[in-house]
Amino acid sequence: MAKFIAVSSGKGGVGKTTTAINLGTAFSQFGRNVVVVDANLTTPNVNIHLGAPKVSTTLNDVLRGNKHITQAVYEHESGLRVIPASVSLEALKKVDVDRIKDVLLDLEHFYDLVVLDSSAGLGKESVISLQSADEVIIITNPELPAVTDALKAIKTAEKHKATVLGIVVSRVRGDRYEMSIPNVEAILEYPVIASIPEHEHVRESLHMKHPVVYTHPKSHVSKAYKKLAAKILGEIYEEGPVLVPESFFKKLVKGLFGVK
Ligand SMILES: Nc1ncnc2c1ncn2[C@@H]1O[C@H](COP(=O)(O)OP(=O)(O)O)[C@@H](O)[C@H]1O
Ligand SMILES: [Mg+2]
Repeated sequence: MAKFIAVSSGKGGVGKTTTAINLGTAFSQFGRNVVVVDANLTTPNVNIHLGAPKVSTTLNDVLRGNKHITQAVYEHESGLRVIPASVSLEALKKVDVDRIKDVLLDLEHFYDLVVLDSSAGLGKESVISLQSADEVIIITNPELPAVTDALKAIKTAEKHKATVLGIVVSRVRGDRYEMSIPNVEAILEYPVIASIPEHEHVRESLHMKHPVVYTHPKSHVSKAYKKLAAKILGEIYEEGPVLVPESFFKKLVKGLFGVK
């Protein structure tokens, strides 16, 4: 039975999608069968982060009742499995967002973990993703506007009886203008379970259309995501030999020997 984990926030642009795809990648590096769902139907961007590959079936088709959810699973080059939402505004028409929870339940026998990249704010879409999740991670930046909005997201999660796993403070620069972790914890009344540094490796990986955990496994950002994944899974994370997905070796061998 899959565990459903929503990645949510109050404010937009704080690092939800980055966290969803990197946490998903890190979970699979710990041997879990994972899928990342773009539950942000109005402004979807999981696939944009992954190079916007053309896909024949999206979550929109499933919600319109045309396809089964398992037909919308797509394997990215990095090995990460995703269920994209359509970027076309036209595709939003006739989509019944209230069906999200039901169609997601069809995934529960196929995966260990389903990571939901939610939309920001307290609107219907984000509430549905909170309602579909067993556990919620709240993403914020170490700045008052983001933390204030995170508080509202937490209250909404609590209202809908979602278990808040903790706070991920993303894009941490470590300068004197930032809020400290204890300060963030005091305001939000939940533990900070990860502090993700601001680093250009993330922008570089976005440019490469891959999760940073995949392109820069030794980066401090990747280590922070892997530690977070280990914490959630109750595994021990050791910085040692870098875990590289099997698909990477397959591609390397194919490249070396010209195998198609
Ligand atoms: N740790 C980080 N370091 C540097 N840039 C980051 C980091 N995390 C996210 N970003 C960048 O911030 C922007 C917003 O991140 P994104 O994950 O899309 O946020 P959201 O999904 O909450 O809107 C993106 O351009 C992303 O590349
Ligand atoms: Mg996003």
